[in-house]
Amino acid sequence: MSRIEELKREVRRLLRERNAILLAHNYQRDEIQEIADLRGDSLGLSQEASRTDADIIVFCGVHFMAESAAILSPNKKVILPRMDAGCPMADMITAEQLRAERERRPGVPVVAYVNTSAEVKAMSDICCTSANAVKVVESLPQDRAYLVPDRNLAHYIQRFTSKQLEWWDGYCPTHDQLSPEEVLRVKQEHPDSLFVCHPECRPEVIDIADHVCSTSGMYEFARTTKAKTIIVGTEMGILWRLKKENPHKRFIIPSKTLICPNMKLTTLEDVIECLREMKNIVTVPEDVRERAMVALRRMLEVPRD
Ligand code: 13P
Ligand code: SF4
Repeated sequence: MSRIEELKREVRRLLRERNAILLAHNYQRDEIQEIADLRGDSLGLSQEASRTDADIIVFCGVHFMAESAAILSPNKKVILPRMDAGCPMADMITAEQLRAERERRPGVPVVAYVNTSAEVKAMSDICCTSANAVKVVESLPQDRAYLVPDRNLAHYIQRFTSKQLEWWDGYCPTHDQLSPEEVLRVKQEHPDSLFVCHPECRPEVIDIADHVCSTSGMYEFARTTKAKTIIVGTEMGILWRLKKENPHKRFIIPSKTLICPNMKLTTLEDVIECLREMKNIVTVPEDVRERAMVALRRMLEVPRD
């Protein structure tokens, strides 16, 4: 048996022994996605995990995702196999900075993208994901909103709402690097292709996209589109499942820089070490958890269609 197969087997054995469940975000390394119990986007994973009867959630993703799982599953232990796996965009705004912005805009609701710390969520009125952001903003009774932390997602939402939006100047270093020139170069080589991208991309990139959606939306798009070649403007970890689910279609990542170093930190060895030693448990203080839960629950109450 190869070393990697041995490691996978050991992970599965430890998961059974501990009554644990393994969650893998869509950007994780292939071998992590291969052995996961659940794969998906950050919020979908936390929601699904909270419904299982596992005692332990091993979240292969970045820190804010493990926090979201801890918020939604207060009676389970949540392990983040690499404590240094953060999201640079989530780290671009602190609760203190958000407090100052709120004070400058009394009465203006704050919408926090799920890519934020639990403390920032706790200081917000409502959360949103890349899949429901427009609906969340439209659901607010006020005609203004302040969005954190992603300026690109905020620009994208502004295209679909007449509400007056303001936002924090954060961005995802991975998605923000993609340029329209890189996409157009690939498009020239594959004129029949379609280009799909994540709303964390810059407005100039969104302008030339055939479809804009969350990572989960991309699987649906890939399945249903008639195009045989799809240019994908998001982190390259998404390729593993796209290819597996659509073996007769071709997927092209238009830039070598579409890689999130934090998402690639977690290895099978890390998962084994944490499960053996029961370490890297992510906790959220109860008062923060309760307030963050209110913002998340409000988002979940927004009708989907
Ligand atoms: P999704 O919620 O669409 O999976 O996105 C998370 C993320 O980190 C995007 O960069
Ligand atoms: Fe954060 Fe960007 Fe990495 Fe997603 S891809 S986790 S937004 S840095």
